Amino acid sequence: MTTPQHVAIIMDGNGRWAKARGLPRVAGHRAGVEALRKTVRAASDLGVGWLTVYAFSSENWSRPKSEVSDLMGLLRLFIRRDLAELHRSGVKVSVIGEREGLSPDIASLLDEAETLTAGNSALNLIIAFNYGGRDEIVRAAGRIAEAAVRGEIVPAALTPEIFAGYLDTAGIPDPDLVIRTSGEQRMSNFLPWQSAYSELVFLPCYWPEFTGEHFADALAQYAARERRFGGIVPQGVAQGVAS
Ligand code: FPP
Repeated sequence: MTTPQHVAIIMDGNGRWAKARGLPRVAGHRAGVEALRKTVRAASDLGVGWLTVYAFSSENWSRPKSEVSDLMGLLRLFIRRDLAELHRSGVKVSVIGEREGLSPDIASLLDEAETLTAGNSALNLIIAFNYGGRDEIVRAAGRIAEAAVRGEIVPAALTPEIFAGYLDTAGIPDPDLVIRTSGEQRMSNFLPWQSAYSELVFLPCYWPEFTGEHFADALAQYAARERRFGGIVPQGVAQGVAS
């Protein structure tokens, strides 16, 4: 079976999961953190080397203040409680998204997670926090413009590969598979550049319900897909092994 090297997940449905149980939304987010913990373990067990999760989008600031503060609190808790174990398990944590404008304690926790685990290689966990794909592309374009003004880049020589090197995801392989839970079928500004050729799997379960079995099911759907990257599948190549 073809296992994707990099899986990216839109962890959606925490609020609806809580509502269906008559619980406050924060209970859904708390259960979402539990599902995230299990998913990180499952990724290693399933042989996935890179896992990116959409934890807080640039657009999530428009939620009620109390919910934003709950989500920030959960990130603090996740890093304080889980960082040592992630490090012991050989997980390398990276964070993508706009760091400016985050409260100093959150920014330094993110730095600490990256610095502590920088030498690990068992699993790459990428947390998209204060992340928006368009914002990432605009920031990259700004850095390229600055480099051009300094004379370090000739605009005519710009290629997609060079451009990608200015994104937050520089050095990270593109996701082979993007999973979204909760039944919604859209990308919501998640990795728009990087997911150009990703396979997409939409699962009906809410994020807090996501288990290793759902993960394995998404990987099985991926394995049955034919990836062509704009080309054609060579004659005689079986489905799912063309990539
Ligand atoms: C979507 O559910 C989920 C989020 C906006 C945030 C994802 C966050 C977690 C899984 C927990 C936090 C983890 C960290 C590390 C901070 P939703 O609220 O949009 O659900 P709904 O669409 O049903 O309302």
